[in-house]
Amino acid sequence: MAEHSGQIPCHIAIIMDGNGRWAKRRGLPRTAGHAAGAEAFRRIANYCRTLGVKYLTVYAFSTENWKRSAEEVSGIMKLLGKYLEEALEDMEKNHVRFRFFGDLSRLSPALQKLCQDAQARSADYSEVQVNFCLNYGGRDEIVRASQRFAEEVAAGKRQPEELTEELLSSYLYSANVPDPELIIRPSGEMRTSNFLLWQSAYSEYVFMDVLWPDFQPKDLDAAIAEYNRRNRRFGGV
Ligand code: IPE
Ligand code: IPE
Ligand code: MG
Repeated sequence: MAEHSGQIPCHIAIIMDGNGRWAKRRGLPRTAGHAAGAEAFRRIANYCRTLGVKYLTVYAFSTENWKRSAEEVSGIMKLLGKYLEEALEDMEKNHVRFRFFGDLSRLSPALQKLCQDAQARSADYSEVQVNFCLNYGGRDEIVRASQRFAEEVAAGKRQPEELTEELLSSYLYSANVPDPELIIRPSGEMRTSNFLLWQSAYSEYVFMDVLWPDFQPKDLDAAIAEYNRRNRRFGGV
């Protein structure tokens, strides 16, 4: 393990991007890239645990990723089932708490059950929490939170003027999770692609050229070192 002279962020979020390009460079089908990406997730989640990161949020499938071919989507869904089961074995061994951010109702009943079981079985674990973003969109998350608040107002349980930043946060998938200090996007793209729009207001972004399936603990070390060189001001001086 590398020496970390600076602070380890409490919450790291990662946009796991670049699986398709990784496969293309090797002349492999895109699904092979997703399989390698799932291995990278397992590797990096375990490394985060050894570093003492408290929350790891990963973007696995966005609300926009349904636009891909039916073949790619079903390949990803199949892999998710397989790799989540393996990740859950790690979870039991290492007391990792799993939460899922996103609208799971669009997933297959089997995958939904796997997610629900994982959440329930790990609810009391506190070593590290992995938030797995599946059919997740930052805008969708805010719309759903707004709908829930509006329903409570309509039912007479809340007043419109009660709405504060804290209260809105409590309706998000990320309720009770502190905002990420560091968001990493590998693959060379420099955009959020609808990830954690609300929670990232003051996050430090680190964009890296490495493709996600190639991502190693040393790359995480480099991102944390870059984070420690940043000067966070939160609007102050
Ligand atoms: C990320 O890798 C995985 C998902 C979005 C599901 P991509 O599949 O987007 O890989 P690239 O960006 O095409 O290389
Ligand atoms: C973001 O990557 C979503 C995930 C990594 C799950 P995309 O590959 O979907 O993002 P765009 O299309 O390049 O913006
Ligand atoms: Mg991509």
